[in-house]
Amino acid sequence: MKVLVLGNGGREHALVWKLRQSSRISKLYCAPGNGGIAEEAECLPVDLKNLDSLVALGQQMRPDLTVVGPELPLTLGVVDEFTRRGWPAFGPTKAAAQLESSKSFAKELLQRHRIPTAPYAICDSVEEVRAALAHFHAPVVVKADGLAAGKGVVIATSKEEAASVAAEMFSGKMVGEAGTRVVLEECLKGDELSFLVLSDGERVAPLVAAQDHKRAGDGDTGPNTGGMGAYSTQSIIDDKMRDWLVHHIARPAVAGMKAEGAEFKGVLYCGLMMTARGPMVLEFNCRFGDPETQPILMRLESDLVDALEASIAGRVSEGDFKWSADASVCVVMASGGYPGTFEVGKKITGLSQAGAVEGVKVFHAGTSKLDGEFYTAGGRVLGVSARAPELQTAVARAYEACEKIRFDGAHYRKDIAGRALKK
Ligand code: AMP
Ligand code: GLY
Repeated sequence: MKVLVLGNGGREHALVWKLRQSSRISKLYCAPGNGGIAEEAECLPVDLKNLDSLVALGQQMRPDLTVVGPELPLTLGVVDEFTRRGWPAFGPTKAAAQLESSKSFAKELLQRHRIPTAPYAICDSVEEVRAALAHFHAPVVVKADGLAAGKGVVIATSKEEAASVAAEMFSGKMVGEAGTRVVLEECLKGDELSFLVLSDGERVAPLVAAQDHKRAGDGDTGPNTGGMGAYSTQSIIDDKMRDWLVHHIARPAVAGMKAEGAEFKGVLYCGLMMTARGPMVLEFNCRFGDPETQPILMRLESDLVDALEASIAGRVSEGDFKWSADASVCVVMASGGYPGTFEVGKKITGLSQAGAVEGVKVFHAGTSKLDGEFYTAGGRVLGVSARAPELQTAVARAYEACEKIRFDGAHYRKDIAGRALKK
């Protein structure tokens, strides 16, 4: 079969790498892809922000399966458009993708279906924010309602700061359209967990859990990023907790969406805070996480095509995935300045030496290839990933590989999975 992956990041490289292992695929395409993905799939140009461009690509390719990586094409309705034309596509419809594209929609769904989440208020003006703040204690989390590529969440240390951040969001200067509505939320404490499930609109099958590292600096300091690294192990949560999360979070969310007429198919990413009062939902994403997908797929031993098709066809079952007991980790190497402004076009060396380290796979997140050489082409450049029976070994292998890679301004966190190793 002919399979098309949409996207151009580390997540999409991991999807392409895993899909290529399926004997069911005869031809694999990625649009637009990147320098590293081009080594493993045929890359085609497309504008991920433009539905007409995506449909034109579908028309030209007639894929037997399309796998959508990023949220933007999902929220534009790429799955609706492809499905309507008879091209099977993996992921939620535009209506179901609101779980990610509108934080107020997600919060109200959580509340209606009694799924644990932080107390909140939805506000459409600075006056409403000021009035609502009376019911909160500092620190207060201020969130832009819409998609803001990780820049729409601020933890305000005082109510005054919360009000001024909200005002900035409403002004449109901070995150544009995404900030026309604001959600205030109680600030939760605990460890974060990325809990992803495959859904067919009714049934869910959990993927192995992972932990992301969102802050730019070691020890969780500095600004938020798209994610600087992630790991996954068998012991990150136990079976009892996994079942609890399925019963109290993933399944009720999927059932709630169906009951409300927006059946959710695809990967439901539950971003959780494991608080002293129990797990609570911080956010939903309507897709695979990045970089979580890199360590998660490194542990997947069964056929990914079968699982994705089960979601589309409405026959997901808990046995859809077979996982390795090994641990896996992904360390993101980023451009100098990321998540702020950065330059691109820096030559990358040492990739083949890094890839030769035992258990290592270097996923490309933002690279281009010119005359046989790789160059940086984004903020997150590489996801240096490793697998091993023990987490400690996987982490050592990933860092050994990182040390072999050079590009001007390269930086990466030195403490990915550090807290798990200490435990
Ligand atoms: P979100 O996009 O809603 O997941 O928020 C991005 C990040 O902000 C999360 O991964 C958390 O690190 C942090 N965050 C969001 N909501 C809260 C909250 N209620 N309490 C504490 N931290 C939060
Ligand atoms: N790693 C966070 C995300 O995929 O949104």
